[in-house]
Amino acid sequence: MKNYLKHDEWNIIEEGFYQKHNKISESIFSIGNGRMGQRANFEEKYSGETMSGNYVAGVYYPDKTRVGWWKNGYPEYFAKVLNASNWIGIDIEIDGEVFDLAECKVDDFRRCLNMREGYLERTFTATLKSGKMVKVEAKRFCSIVDDEVGALCYKIRALNFTGEISVSPYVDFDVMNEDSNYDEKFWIEVDKEVAPREGIVIAQTKKTAFQVATGMKFQVLKNGETADSNAGVFSKEKYISSDVKVNVTDDDEIVIFKYAANLSSENHAKKDLKANTQAVVEKAFEKGFGEMLEEQNLAWRKKWKQSDIIIEGDVAAQQGIRFNIFQLNQTYTGEDDRLNIGPKGFTGEKYGGSTYWDTEAYCLPFYLATADQNVAKNLLLYRYKQLGKAIENAEKLGFKNGAALYPMVTMNGEECHNEWEITFEEIHRNGAIAYGIYDYIRHTGDRDYLVDYGAEVLIAIARFWAQRFHFSKRRGKYVMHGVTGPNEYENNINNNWYTNFIATWCLKYAVGAIMFIKEKAPEKWTALEEKIKFYEVTETTEWKKICDNVYLPYDEELDVFIQHDGFLDKELIQVNDLPEEDRPLNQKWSWDRILRSCFIKQADVLQGLYFFEEMFDEDTHRRNFEFYEPMTVHESSLSPCVHAILAAKLGMKEKAYEMYVRTARLDLDDYNNDTEDGLHITSMAGTWMAVVKGFGGMRVIGEQLILNPSLPKEWQSFSFKILFKDSLLQISVNEKEITIENLSSKDVHMEVFGEHYDVLARSKAQFFPETV
Ligand code: BGC
Repeated sequence: MKNYLKHDEWNIIEEGFYQKHNKISESIFSIGNGRMGQRANFEEKYSGETMSGNYVAGVYYPDKTRVGWWKNGYPEYFAKVLNASNWIGIDIEIDGEVFDLAECKVDDFRRCLNMREGYLERTFTATLKSGKMVKVEAKRFCSIVDDEVGALCYKIRALNFTGEISVSPYVDFDVMNEDSNYDEKFWIEVDKEVAPREGIVIAQTKKTAFQVATGMKFQVLKNGETADSNAGVFSKEKYISSDVKVNVTDDDEIVIFKYAANLSSENHAKKDLKANTQAVVEKAFEKGFGEMLEEQNLAWRKKWKQSDIIIEGDVAAQQGIRFNIFQLNQTYTGEDDRLNIGPKGFTGEKYGGSTYWDTEAYCLPFYLATADQNVAKNLLLYRYKQLGKAIENAEKLGFKNGAALYPMVTMNGEECHNEWEITFEEIHRNGAIAYGIYDYIRHTGDRDYLVDYGAEVLIAIARFWAQRFHFSKRRGKYVMHGVTGPNEYENNINNNWYTNFIATWCLKYAVGAIMFIKEKAPEKWTALEEKIKFYEVTETTEWKKICDNVYLPYDEELDVFIQHDGFLDKELIQVNDLPEEDRPLNQKWSWDRILRSCFIKQADVLQGLYFFEEMFDEDTHRRNFEFYEPMTVHESSLSPCVHAILAAKLGMKEKAYEMYVRTARLDLDDYNNDTEDGLHITSMAGTWMAVVKGFGGMRVIGEQLILNPSLPKEWQSFSFKILFKDSLLQISVNEKEITIENLSSKDVHMEVFGEHYDVLARSKAQFFPETV
């Protein structure tokens, strides 16, 4: 765990240059706008520890799989989020001496991510080896108003010398992925052009033939006057730059405004890329840095108005939740149903592929409650559009008749993960995709989605489960062998309670969906039946038989659900009895030892209880929580949030708070020692859930909104907003009262602490429970 960043409500601040943590800071201070994003690399040269990262949404490379022993069924490649062109770079020389921050003495270093207004800022003074001193102030952002544009302002002031400063802004496409399997570069040059103070490079990915054009245009001022009339040009493969030399004397300040655009062939015809990029850059240049920054500021303030959570009395917790919300909004804006939310967003390469079950299980509730319903709908449509590939994927594994197995990791619908225990066994993901449809509909009431898209996905998923269960004569039950549950610290297990349960739920939900469409939209049902060659009676009879006879492991004596058949035969030890130095297990123990142990990586049985809460009584929740949580090491970032929600429900406020802090500050404090690889973007939505569903006790059950707020003792108050069926509600909780303000023009019916209320349009309801 690290503790070098200052606690502040709206900003992430590094004071003093923590070079040894630079890669961690590069992840934490990342900026993005849903269309592109980047790690917080420096503009000037830095030869110290760094991981260069610039990413353009939807652009990937299928890197040929590298495994020790090939197994039939492995995907041929692992689609990778691509490191794209560096558009922020400015090479600087002072009287011929390269300005490399790693080679300088750095003072008064301050890096600040302003989350309220959406920009990154850095200030410092540097003394070069020659003794020359400069003061630098750099500010930049990825515009959320023009999402193909980024802009920066770099100021460099001579402090103690007279000489020449040469600045050379560039675009560099000659970049690599650190995780390239064969040390291969993935980009080839298509075109480039450079002129004084501007230029463009267009590159194409090998194999996938995506093209990205990066254009730049800049301006250099000295003490406020134009100083770039002598600009020269330079180019080499996949690289262009233009340099400007300026004579300076003590206290002169050079300011560089650099504007860049990243356009991809996903959104522009290849033949138009060059002209369109040049036009976008020109427009940004004309608008100017100041105006763009002002627009950015206003746009971010608007976003915050809808999605902010305010926590009073606990700055670390406040900063944590804002950081999570900020990064989520930087990653996915929901405007494009071809895009999704990668576990690292635009902050690193790890987890290469873009989409995991994380999206439906963790991210969807955040977007459902904080953004227009189309945002969440686009996440569902992404899967709908990939249904054909999910069916092909299942066929490759021997399933038939339109059964679909969605990939564990995907970019374009094809599986691109290649560890057998995950690729072939971690099939519970199919359940989360069905659950996402259910969650969307109960939150929005948009049943048309079920008719037009949802049912087709549900039936294909149900067909998969029906084939994946088999009947055990010995047990007289339907069982499922050879799976990995959400707890990836056990593989090839039989009858994972969570997987069997969610699979059965999918079968029932699909039957319900069919009934619904038959009644509400019979013609559409007939068309769908025809399209997917559905034999209703035969297939649904089989599904019902499975549901009536499924094996769900349960222990009478302990009165808990059993994670899987062999779990209770393990040596059952608690995490508290583990020596501190053994953790994290995944860095300290052999894989074999982890697999044989009882230690649980992330919520598994408890994930099921969280998803299907209303089907179980509170005692069942408590017994299972008390049994499983002490064996859980939370070594997946997705784990603490589910435990925070359940603990809050069970009134275990301290546990809930401990889990909240762990999820909210996971990256800021580098809990799992892996922030340098990138941020845990998908679990950030879990942090939001820990507040809203955990302490806020918000649920939607039977399409009704329910609130059961409680206040952790560390907080004076907290408040959050939720969008629910077109109404915006603000919920504020302090130790004396709970206020629910309906900010919309529609009355909202809800349940608060078990009682039913109508909170009228544009009015407030107050509650004064004995204890909050
Ligand atoms: C977790 C998975 C998750 C993946 C990506 C893994 O560590 O165990 O559940 O989907 O990370 O976030």
